[in-house]
Amino acid sequence: MGREEQRVPVSLQARSYNIVIKPGLIADIAKRLPSVTSAKHIGIVTDRHVSKHYLHVVLAQCERAGFYATPIVLPPGEKNKTLATVGRILDVLAKERFERKSLLVALGGGVVGDITGFAAAIYQRGIPFVQVPTTLVAQVDSSVGGKTGVDHRLGKNLIGAFHQPKAVWIDPMLLRTLPKREFVAGLAEVIKYGIIADRKFFTYLERAMPALLSLDPRAVMQVVKRSCEIKAQVVGEDEQESDRRRILNYGHTIGHALEALGGYRSLIHGEAVGIGLVLEADLARQQGYCDSKTVDRIRSLVLAAGLSDCLTSRSGAKVWSAMQHDKKVSQGKVVGVWPEAIGRVRIEPVEEKAFAAWFRKVSDGVGA
Ligand SMILES: NC(=O)c1ccc[n+]([C@@H]2O[C@H](COP(=O)([O-])OP(=O)(O)OC[C@H]3O[C@@H](n4cnc5c(N)ncnc54)[C@H](O)[C@@H]3O)[C@@H](O)[C@H]2O)c1
Ligand SMILES: [Zn+2]
Repeated sequence: MGREEQRVPVSLQARSYNIVIKPGLIADIAKRLPSVTSAKHIGIVTDRHVSKHYLHVVLAQCERAGFYATPIVLPPGEKNKTLATVGRILDVLAKERFERKSLLVALGGGVVGDITGFAAAIYQRGIPFVQVPTTLVAQVDSSVGGKTGVDHRLGKNLIGAFHQPKAVWIDPMLLRTLPKREFVAGLAEVIKYGIIADRKFFTYLERAMPALLSLDPRAVMQVVKRSCEIKAQVVGEDEQESDRRRILNYGHTIGHALEALGGYRSLIHGEAVGIGLVLEADLARQQGYCDSKTVDRIRSLVLAAGLSDCLTSRSGAKVWSAMQHDKKVSQGKVVGVWPEAIGRVRIEPVEEKAFAAWFRKVSDGVGA
């Protein structure tokens, strides 16, 4: 991978920070720490999978640089994204006498990032943290924007807070140990950025997908950087999701519903979003917002990434009802994000009747 360092600013007045992207960055975390903290006591939160590969690298350099680092290793997986896990982190912070200035480092995927950010948001009413994302989802999406939180038995991401990191430090080389299925899932979010905001980027992805899938260093660097730029821009325009930030939800209205209907077991998030990208484009076409060529291009790219475009539920009523449970539903209406063309979307409510009529057509092929 090219050794050059790329920077993407996230502009949020006093809470502004930089995303730094650099192959090999994992080796200079300790060197970067003084740029975000004057404290010597840091907590490194990670999960068991990630710790196996990278925790020793980070701990060793912190010690050499004179930091007192406490590792906190969590059990991996979405099922552990709970208040109980946050409680375990808070126990360690309190026992180890972490102070207002102490820093947490989230070294892991979106699960570790969301949990650590939330623990940092509430311990002593907020301590600083940095994100060192290790999955594609985390590098292009969850580490940027300041949404932190955990799941509740009755809903995903139901408990949380906005808490911006002091920095996001991305080493794309860490993706080499990531299971292929997780990498492919992250591509759904990458494709989403092209559709909602950048036609040229979408066209680049059409060409570069094989290189990306083989983890070609240049392609990975380019894609992580452009994705971060788009997310940073949208978040900078609308930090707390009043309107503009909603466009990031494209593919997620149906995606979340399919994910929930599968009990968060059969499909991982990005896989559900991949299906959502195609189906929501098709529903947009049905409503007259875009043409079928746009839907075809989206479907082809989703398939080229190794994602699926197939409906996993045969019941339109169930999908509709699961769509109602999404916390982005306001006043009973399902508000969706619809492509008008590649690179441009609009936000409109969708009626149950229109949804049901469309669903009957697409589920024809599924077989009852
Ligand atoms: N805060 C946000 O804005 C935001 C945005 C998108 C998603 N999310 C959240 O992110 C979570 C999903 O994140 P994810 O997809 O990164 O999943 P994850 O954190 O569960 O990571 C996926 C798996 O990969 C392993 N892993 C991580 N990095 C690795 C590496 N480099 N090498 C080997 N194994 C590695 C993990 O241990 C885990 O088993 C969800 O909870 C979702 O709600 C949050
Ligand atoms: Zn997503």
